[in-house]
Amino acid sequence: MGKVNISFTINGSSHQIDVEPQWTLLEMVREQLHLTGTKEGCGTGDCGACSMIVDGRLITSCCMLAPQADGSDVTTVEGLLANGDLHPVQQAFIETGGVQCGFCTPGMIMATKALLDRTPKPTLDDIREGLAGNLCRCTGYTKIYEAVMTASGQEI
Ligand code: FES
Ligand code: FES
Repeated sequence: MGKVNISFTINGSSHQIDVEPQWTLLEMVREQLHLTGTKEGCGTGDCGACSMIVDGRLITSCCMLAPQADGSDVTTVEGLLANGDLHPVQQAFIETGGVQCGFCTPGMIMATKALLDRTPKPTLDDIREGLAGNLCRCTGYTKIYEAVMTASGQEI
């Protein structure tokens, strides 16, 4: 099968590249663009480790084909940095101990960013719902919810 030529923006820079039509957005971003901040956990849409924001919507990039990103505006965890400074959400995860492992954290951070973009002062229930698609398989969610509260300027 021949490659497909697509154009898109990722983390503010425009790209026009040839991609394998069967590749997922996650594969393209990691293997072709070498942005390896986004992780693959399950590969089946269940864990949220591969979360990215596409056209303002939180998506699981293991379930989106790369050609579907044609014309889109994609943000990965690398795109949250501004002039080398961490995003307030990243900072809050560090401060509260919400960075529990390197695997789920990028996805948790992207889900938090998407949540706070639409609900700047979320309740605990909003946070549970906003992060419902992101699984931690080990340590638990207390510190992660604390990080979201801190990022939104609230006390837990
Ligand atoms: S790797 Fe995409 S949802 Fe788990
Ligand atoms: S899976 Fe990352 S902290 Fe549990």
